[in-house]
Amino acid sequence: MSVSIKTAKEIEKMREAGRLLEQVHDELEQFIKPGISTLDIDRLGESLIRKMGCTPNFLHYNGYPASICVSVNDEVVHGIPHKERIIQEGDIVSLDAGLIYQGYHSDAARTHAVGKISKEAQQLIDVTRQSFFEGIKFAKAGNHLYEISAAIGAYAEKFGYGVVRDLVGHGIGTSLHEDPQIPNFRQRRRGLRLQAGMTLAIEPMINQGRADVVWLDDDWTVVTEDGSLSAHYENTVLITEGEPEILTLSK
Ligand code: MF3
Ligand code: CO
Repeated sequence: MSVSIKTAKEIEKMREAGRLLEQVHDELEQFIKPGISTLDIDRLGESLIRKMGCTPNFLHYNGYPASICVSVNDEVVHGIPHKERIIQEGDIVSLDAGLIYQGYHSDAARTHAVGKISKEAQQLIDVTRQSFFEGIKFAKAGNHLYEISAAIGAYAEKFGYGVVRDLVGHGIGTSLHEDPQIPNFRQRRRGLRLQAGMTLAIEPMINQGRADVVWLDDDWTVVTEDGSLSAHYENTVLITEGEPEILTLSK
């Protein structure tokens, strides 16, 4: 396994890729409302990315047919946008998006509430987001990768949630998926030693019920096996000697 260390020049490009992707997410968040289709979200996301002079990195990735993954309620990740899939009041909608800026990739996900949702659903969204922040407390040069994994998993499990084990975060840079893989739960080893200049996409996927997931017949959409809700939160993060820099989140 070889993990790339980005140069200062590469980091500048990763920063810009991250900054632009944050803008895409902000606009998509404003756009989500009851009555729109998941394809409407994909269309807007793709056009925003292209207007920025960037390329959607998910489109045609291993045959994935869209630019934005839209995963509703019990869908965990990789939901395929469809014109007949209409967003309803009370849904929770996970949006996963990525783009390429001057050869450098960014990747980030958010789960949004549509109108009024249950207290339980809101807690799932909040805990999933917070589990990311618990993890990156350990994202620092000299620490070990799986300290991040363990912190994410331990936090989410305190709430009785199922931490998805079949999908992981990843290194990112000139490719969307680089080494290393980043599980969201405790490992038996410490994992690699983090170094300044590594860029990582850290992405907890957390289920309200059990951790088990299944793939739908479209071969993409991952859903919870027990039908419970699922949330996703992801940022592209730069490892430094000090605090990590969250490239897809400035505020
Ligand atoms: N953000 C997803 C990931 O972390 C990317 C989805 S790949 C796609 O790996 F093919 F579904 F687009
Ligand atoms: Co990712």
